[in-house]
Amino acid sequence: MSKGKILVTGGTGFIGSHTTVELQNAGYEVVIIDNLSNSNADVVDGIERITGIRPVFVEGDCTDIDTLHRLFKENPGITGIINFAASKAVGESVQKPILYYRNNLNILLNLLDLMPVYGVKGFVFSSSCTVYGEPDQNPITEAAPTKKATSPYGATKQICEGIIADVVRSGSPIKAILLRYFNPIGAHPTAEIGELPNGVPQNLVPFLTQTAMGIRKELSVFGNDYNTPDGSCIRDFINVVDLAKAHVAALDRMLEDKSDEALEVFNIGTGEGLSVLQLIDAFQRATGVEVPHKIVGRREGDIEQIWADPKRANEVLGWHAETSIEDTMRSAWKWQQRLRERGIM
Ligand code: UD1
Repeated sequence: MSKGKILVTGGTGFIGSHTTVELQNAGYEVVIIDNLSNSNADVVDGIERITGIRPVFVEGDCTDIDTLHRLFKENPGITGIINFAASKAVGESVQKPILYYRNNLNILLNLLDLMPVYGVKGFVFSSSCTVYGEPDQNPITEAAPTKKATSPYGATKQICEGIIADVVRSGSPIKAILLRYFNPIGAHPTAEIGELPNGVPQNLVPFLTQTAMGIRKELSVFGNDYNTPDGSCIRDFINVVDLAKAHVAALDRMLEDKSDEALEVFNIGTGEGLSVLQLIDAFQRATGVEVPHKIVGRREGDIEQIWADPKRANEVLGWHAETSIEDTMRSAWKWQQRLRERGIM
């Protein structure tokens, strides 16, 4: 029996596609809307190959409220929304701030506006540990103060969190959960879906796997003079399938009324900090493949070190990161190899 119908915005993207798989595995029906600005429709085939179920796919833009009205009318009975749809490149956001504010804020406002109209009860928002800025101490808890964002992208996450809080406080009949992701990496173990960045990857793991494949000559490690044990930055790398499962737990919690709180916030990370150099090492150990790399200067705007205290998510959501870093690295490599087999990269 279906547990209900969920709208996944940005559902053909990296995290959205993995979450769609886990929602279907958990017994939810999924309607995806995506404008394919940073993904393609073939992802729906990958989801179907894994789960045996084809999600409803609407190609459309959530900034267009008429498109959303049509979607809700054609797909009655949606009880929850997971909002992944957003622009997410930090560097680009510095170049094109208006695009970032317009896109990320309008998508959110449209969805929040329509939820009561169509009787949608639960909302999960993709937030980021970027809202914390440089932590005063690690691991960081949800109670830590947010600091001034270092990019328009980060600012949109903070503003969106604030908008959701205001809407909930205004008495809107909705519940919301903000999930603050740390660094999502890896791919589905079947390699049917994974991360496919446009152009030269900005994030560490896609650049690393492309270098291992020979597509890039060398991975640049941005800085080895940080105040960390090996001098490189420290992050909390969270497996994307584990991360996807946190969304299912969040929806279950809201839709089954397990909490009286209308708004909750959870860190979604492993609780372990790993340096950039340690991650490269983990990849090499797990796959046996060398990654040519060199140390270069620091990247502007980088945080020195941040990792999660995921205790709230562990205890309240009953969610834990489960996958080892080695398995995660192997999944990322298998995905990169699959892209080669398919002639994509
Ligand atoms: C970044 C964003 C974060 C966002 C996330 C989404 C910043 C400050 N943060 O996280 O808000 O949610 O992307 O994707 O930009 N690195 C290298 N060489 C590379 C690439 C990265 O050494 O070629 C290092 C970086 O300096 C950093 C670490 O690897 O120390 C992780 O980088 P990345 O994968 O880009 O993620 P974040 O910067 O942590």
